[in-house]
Amino acid sequence: MEIITTVERLQDVAVRERAAGKTIGMVPTMGALHEGHLSLIRRAHEENDIVFCSIFVNPVQFNNAEDLQKYPRTLEADVQLIGDLADYVFAPSVEEVFPVAPSEVYDFGSVANVMEGAARPGHFNGVGVIVRRLLEWVRPHKSYFGEKDYQQIAVVKEMCRQCRILSEIVPCPIVREPNGLAMSSRNRRLSVHEFEVAANIHRILEASKACATLQEIKQFVESEIDKIPEFQLDYFELADAATLQTADTLDNPHGVMGFITVYVGPVRLIDNVRY
Ligand code: PAJ
Repeated sequence: MEIITTVERLQDVAVRERAAGKTIGMVPTMGALHEGHLSLIRRAHEENDIVFCSIFVNPVQFNNAEDLQKYPRTLEADVQLIGDLADYVFAPSVEEVFPVAPSEVYDFGSVANVMEGAARPGHFNGVGVIVRRLLEWVRPHKSYFGEKDYQQIAVVKEMCRQCRILSEIVPCPIVREPNGLAMSSRNRRLSVHEFEVAANIHRILEASKACATLQEIKQFVESEIDKIPEFQLDYFELADAATLQTADTLDNPHGVMGFITVYVGPVRLIDNVRY
């Protein structure tokens, strides 16, 4: 595995691998890798000749300065974990990626305006800014994204449609801790107690599958979350799995999903469930 820090070298090797007829898989990350990320990298390794993994804490997608500052940075450990699963790890500086502050303003439409888009102004614009650059530099045949960030996948697909980026976007299932908590780099900021309490998010979502109507689900989830003093609910939305707009019936042809964001102390955790 080669660690690349410049965009010039990144483009150079990517062009060379493509010209040699290799299929290329790409896994964009912000590092502090865990099994969730590794599941994407493993899948890319299985499905492609060459794998690029990027590790870059993208400042333009953070709408909260403290979150950016506290985001764990563990490059050495990340590289160890990746081992031979990737051929190239792109770990650039902020200045290398953004020689000048990016000024692009996208309109990703309705999939980007709800839930995380509404709660974190500018977040998805920042995701679009970085993912577009990465996919244009590497030009992977396939790019891998986790369903923990389900809405992000919809936004990335829309960005690719608008910018005519032809990479296939491959959604990958959520990987969980043994206690059910969705793995996340932010879990490292939880105390042992908070980590155990946070497992209730998944437990409550799973239990809500027994409810018969959307109204019952919403009421059940909100009241169960409210019973846990460590939790502060940001939102719980029931949405069409394709359009991400509010669902009005459980037997929607695209399927209905529940999307939740909960604060555990200062740590913001997201999860989702398919009904
Ligand atoms: P990051 O949070 O590091 O996540 C990188 C990728 O790993 C994303 O596609 C995310 O959905 C996936 N992932 C994280 N936790 C997961 C889990 N428990 N199970 C399955 N997949 C999981 O998402 C980002 O970074 C950034 O927004 C990025 C796309 C890299 C752009 O900066």
